[in-house]
Amino acid sequence: MKGSLSSILLLFLIVVHLSVSLAHRQVYIVHIGKHSGTERTLVEIENNHFSYLTSVKKSKEEAKSSLLYSYKNVINGFSALLTPDEADKLSEMDGVVSVIKSEPITYRIQTTRSWEFTDLLAQGHSGFINGVETSVNKTNDGKDVIVGVLDSGIWPESQSFSDEGMEPIPQSWKGICQPGVDFNSSHCYEAQYGPLNETIDFLSARDRDGHGTHTASTVAGREVPHTTLLGGFANGTAAGGAPLARLAIYKVCWAIPGQMTIFESTCPGEDILAAFDDAIADGVNVISISIVPYQLNSYGQDGIAIGALHAAKREIVVVASCGNTGPGPSTVRNVAPWIISVGASSIDRVFSSPVLLGNGIKIEGQTVTPYESSSTMHPLVYAGDVETPGTTHNDTSGLCLSGTLSPELVRGRIVLCSRGVATNVEKGLEVKRAGGLGFILQNPVDGISIAVDAHVLPGTAIFSNDSATVLNYIKTNNNPTARIVPVMTVLGSKPSPFMAGFSSAGPNPLEPNILKPDITAPGLNILAAWSEATSPTKLFDDKRVVKYNILSGTSMSCPHVAAAAALIKADHPDWNSAAIRSALMTTATQTNNMGLPITDGTGNTAATPFHYGSGHFQPGKAVDPGLIYDSNYTDYLLYLCGYNSSIVQNLDPSFTCLDDPPSPYDLNYPSVAVSNINGAGVSVKRTATNVGDAMSVYKVSVEAPVGYTVEISPNTMNFTSVGQIESFSVLIKHEDAVQKGYSFGSYTWSDGIHIVKSPIIVSSQ
Ligand SMILES: *[C@@H]1O[C@H](CO)[C@@H](O)[C@H](O)[C@H]1NC(C)=O
Ligand SMILES: *[C@@H]1O[C@H](CO)[C@@H](O)[C@H](O)[C@H]1NC(C)=O
Ligand SMILES: *[C@@H]1O[C@H](CO)[C@@H](O)[C@H](O)[C@H]1NC(C)=O
Ligand SMILES: *[C@@H]1O[C@H](CO)[C@@H](O)[C@H](O)[C@H]1NC(C)=O
Ligand SMILES: *[C@@H]1O[C@H](CO)[C@@H](O)[C@H](O)[C@H]1NC(C)=O
Ligand SMILES: *[C@@H]1O[C@H](CO)[C@@H](O)[C@H](O)[C@H]1NC(C)=O
Ligand SMILES: *[C@@H]1O[C@H](CO)[C@@H](O)[C@H](O)[C@H]1NC(C)=O
Ligand SMILES: *[C@@H]1O[C@H](CO)[C@@H](O)[C@H](O)[C@H]1NC(C)=O
Ligand SMILES: *[C@@H]1O[C@H](CO)[C@@H](O)[C@H](O)[C@H]1NC(C)=O
Repeated sequence: MKGSLSSILLLFLIVVHLSVSLAHRQVYIVHIGKHSGTERTLVEIENNHFSYLTSVKKSKEEAKSSLLYSYKNVINGFSALLTPDEADKLSEMDGVVSVIKSEPITYRIQTTRSWEFTDLLAQGHSGFINGVETSVNKTNDGKDVIVGVLDSGIWPESQSFSDEGMEPIPQSWKGICQPGVDFNSSHCYEAQYGPLNETIDFLSARDRDGHGTHTASTVAGREVPHTTLLGGFANGTAAGGAPLARLAIYKVCWAIPGQMTIFESTCPGEDILAAFDDAIADGVNVISISIVPYQLNSYGQDGIAIGALHAAKREIVVVASCGNTGPGPSTVRNVAPWIISVGASSIDRVFSSPVLLGNGIKIEGQTVTPYESSSTMHPLVYAGDVETPGTTHNDTSGLCLSGTLSPELVRGRIVLCSRGVATNVEKGLEVKRAGGLGFILQNPVDGISIAVDAHVLPGTAIFSNDSATVLNYIKTNNNPTARIVPVMTVLGSKPSPFMAGFSSAGPNPLEPNILKPDITAPGLNILAAWSEATSPTKLFDDKRVVKYNILSGTSMSCPHVAAAAALIKADHPDWNSAAIRSALMTTATQTNNMGLPITDGTGNTAATPFHYGSGHFQPGKAVDPGLIYDSNYTDYLLYLCGYNSSIVQNLDPSFTCLDDPPSPYDLNYPSVAVSNINGAGVSVKRTATNVGDAMSVYKVSVEAPVGYTVEISPNTMNFTSVGQIESFSVLIKHEDAVQKGYSFGSYTWSDGIHIVKSPIIVSSQ
């Protein structure tokens, strides 16, 4: 797992920080299960919550001051400041479902080209483009579908959020416009929670971080021509995937003091739950949540999973990031089957900025840091040779860590920095501090997956393996020199997509019989709108203010899929959340733009469903999937009965689990995962609903996982009406030799027009 050193370390820094802030907050979320019929008014619900709290507190005053949120719309419960003792007492009380210590949920912060690169262009949908005009033949553009974005807020003045030409707010919106610090209610899309630190963040839906502005504009940014980053890159029309969708912004992530950066952001679980509670009541159709729990929690202990289950009950599509701690196994998060869990992959655009060495060798590099073109060669040094004595050890030498470089030896030179420990932008900051002219960064992950940054000085990232070539040149020459070639945007790069090196991967650590992630979408080097209250790097010395910024992460891929869900919803208002998920998944592709299998971040190895789920999304195809795999809230509860019936009792006491709950793999999911297949084999049930032509005949084809046989029965489905449901079974058996470990296959239904594909993932002991 050498893979994503820098992202792991970044996460680590955030976590250290969070545990400090937790120590004096001790926030607990108390779930009271379902609203009973007798609690009619909101006041009565709040009083009920309050009575629980007073029973463990010394006085009513103390109870009052410790209550943070009373969740009363669709979720029943409250959050409060409690001692561990009080939490214990509460958890024993009648009616209390669970008492969860709130873990602030961390996310890795991490789009001109991305929409054009997806198949929306085939539909004539204009999108994030680089100076290329697209043909116009629009889908509904997500018209009037309301997308709730749970994030760090929004920069409402961004052109991407212009209200020009928008029709009045749709009737289905039941929410409010909540004004606040530097925030007028004329932009009708906000609710806010928090705050954490008023000297850093705004007590309103205004975005300090930039992350929320980025994700919201990826979902539904209006078309903005001639969008560029830092004066020149990615010049083109910026637009979200569903530019006529409506945004409802729920600020759940708050800026807290950072160590290397001015601030970090944290997303407390109690705020997230409050946002779900409000968003559901407000009438949103889709929820986009680019937030990943740090800890792996059971469904009953995870605020996102609980909030999303309530959302699923109202047929709201919930799309979430799968995490940035990949590509190692079992790193995937947000794994509940009622959530669409999204991995991150590349687009076919590269910001090329090679390094020319004095000996004429050209090393490929990538950056989005702008600088003037010049043919002057500059002296080149290796960081490990220009350090202030005593500031590094043999294992931290060469990394350009803060305070290590000697200004005498660095001034006027280009510095080669090895990968490890600090983030890329922090290394740039150190070279700048020491007076360097520029720097060459060894990419922190192996392979072809480079996440570029807008550094504070000229700098480019080279493939990790090429670093040795540069170092060898420095070591074997008396006067090594180099120059960094200014950025050129290369379109149509191949291969693409490939999986981003950081994208978290399966198998699903909570439930091996449900495949996660579900799908992948663009999440590497995505350009979208940014907050003007911060800089592109958030570093202390970075005074730049930009309207657009380039970021990488599953935080960026999640809103792509949320936008695609909005497009489908606008075209098919009567489709439920499972239908939309199914349409997205069964139409995804596993093939790149060279007609070859999508690879992992190394570029050498074919990716598997553990990396991309069903594949790379194709929104243009997803609006017409042919068949769907339907399921609903009841099915999720039945599934949960098999997982742990006490969670069901807690979340929905009115539901009674059967003595013999269905097998988890029998949830009517668009993918099939079965772990520990025994000698007799396993028969998996599925039903398909016809949403294509009334009269259609679908035939199945199977690619069996290596070492297994797969038999689908019946192998033809004849439909005579739209909405008709047909059942089939998938019988999976070992071949003679028992295959160890995981094995991947697929089955595909087709009527000759639609291709409805499902991955199969099996394992045996
Ligand atoms: C737009 O879509 C319609 C219907 O699908 C199709 O007939 C037409 O050729 C498309 N036009 C363009 C310019 O792609
Ligand atoms: C809020 O609205 C007032 C009056 O329309 C305007 O003067 C002010 O600039 C606005 N502030 C922001 C932050 O939009
Ligand atoms: C972007 O491209 C347009 C035309 O394609 C041009 O007019 C404009 O000046 C460009 N902007 C920048 C900043 O390069
Ligand atoms: C709020 O942020 C400021 C500025 O970073 C910091 O000095 C202060 O300690 C923070 N307060 C809290 C309560 O964290
Ligand atoms: C660093 O030096 C110590 C002692 O000299 C040695 O034991 C260790 O193996 C070295 N580590 C590396 C990464 O070279
Ligand atoms: C390093 O990896 C890249 C990308 O896989 C490849 O194009 C390049 O040839 C490799 N360089 C060396 C020196 O092996
Ligand atoms: C959910 O789907 C099942 C079939 O899987 C159906 O029997 C049930 O009526 C549905 N429930 C709701 C609330 O739609
Ligand atoms: C089931 O869930 C309950 C409540 O969350 C928990 O206390 C219990 O340990 C779980 N049981 C198993 C077998 O995981
Ligand atoms: C479906 O129709 C085809 C002919 O169109 C027929 O051969 C086949 O037997 C039918 N299958 C079922 C399951 O009814």
